Amino acid sequence: MPLTCSQLSVRYGQRQALSSFELSLQKGEIRALIGPNGSGKSTALQALAGLITPADGHAAIKGMPVASMSRRAIARKLAFLPQQPSAPGEMTIAQLVRQGRFSHVGLFRSYVRRDEEAIEWALESTGLTSLADRTLQELSGGERQRAWISAALAQEAGILLLDEPTSFLDIGYQVEVLDLVHRLSREKGVTVVMAIHDINQAIAVSDRISLLEKGELRFDGKPRALAESGLIEKTFRVKGQFVEVGPDKPPHFDVELARALSPGV
Ligand SMILES: Nc1ncnc2c1ncn2[C@@H]1O[C@H](COP(=O)(O)OP(=O)(O)O)[C@@H](O)[C@H]1O
Ligand SMILES: [Mg+2]
Repeated sequence: MPLTCSQLSVRYGQRQALSSFELSLQKGEIRALIGPNGSGKSTALQALAGLITPADGHAAIKGMPVASMSRRAIARKLAFLPQQPSAPGEMTIAQLVRQGRFSHVGLFRSYVRRDEEAIEWALESTGLTSLADRTLQELSGGERQRAWISAALAQEAGILLLDEPTSFLDIGYQVEVLDLVHRLSREKGVTVVMAIHDINQAIAVSDRISLLEKGELRFDGKPRALAESGLIEKTFRVKGQFVEVGPDKPPHFDVELARALSPGV
C-alpha cells in the first residue's frame, strides 16, 4: 500500500485535533477528505506528510514510517500542497516550480534534462507556461494556487496530498484541476488524498471518501454509500437530498437553501 496510517492521533496542547485516524490507500486511488471546518482535515494531511508528530499512531509510505524518513526521502515519494502555502512574493512561478523539483536534484548535481522536462510539464499542465516569469505577488489568487499545484506536480511524486486545491479557483479551473488529478491517478497511478469542501466534486472525482467530524473518522467508503448514509445532512447540519442524475453517474447532493434565503421564516 502506498500510504497508510493507523491509530493516528494529534494534539495541539490540550486540544485533540485528530483521534485514532485510519487510512489505507490503494495505488492510484483518489481519496477525498471531507468534514466541517476544524474537523481535522489539514491536521490529518500534515501528519500523513510527516510534518507534525502524532501523539499516537503513525503514518507509513509503503510500510515505512514517515517519522523514520528524511524530508528529502519523503519529498521523493510524496508531494504536499498545504492549505496556505507561503513563499516570498518576489519569487517567480518558474523559481517556485524549480524548487518543487529540488528533492530530485542531489546536493552537488545540477538540474538535468529530465528535471527540466518535469518542470515544463508541470507548468504546462497547470496552464502557466506563458506566466512562468511573473512573480507570485503579481498573480491573482487562482493563478497563485495553480503555481503551487504546478510546484507539487514538478516533484513527480507517486503520492499527492492536496489541501483544498480548488478553493481559490473559478469553476473552470476547479474542473481543470480535478481533471488533472483524475488523469494523474488513472494514467500515472498517482495516489491522491485531497481535502475538499464541495461534496459533489468529492463524490464525482474520488474512489473513496473519508468523513471527519471533530477529529473523529465518521465514514470511510465509496461515495454512493456515503450518499446513502445520511451522514452529510447530519454532519454538516443541512437539509438536502441526493438525487440521481443518470445511469453510471454518482448521485448529486442538492442542498436546501431555503433557510438562508428566507431569514426569519
Ligand atoms: N497549529 C495549531 N495549533 C492549535 N490548534 C490547531 C492548530 N491547527 C489546527 N488547530 C485546531 O485543530 C482542529 C483541526 O484543525 P484543522 O486540521 O485545520 O481542520 P480542518 O482542516 O478540517 O478545517 C481545529 O480545532 C483547529 O482549531
Ligand atoms: Mg483545513
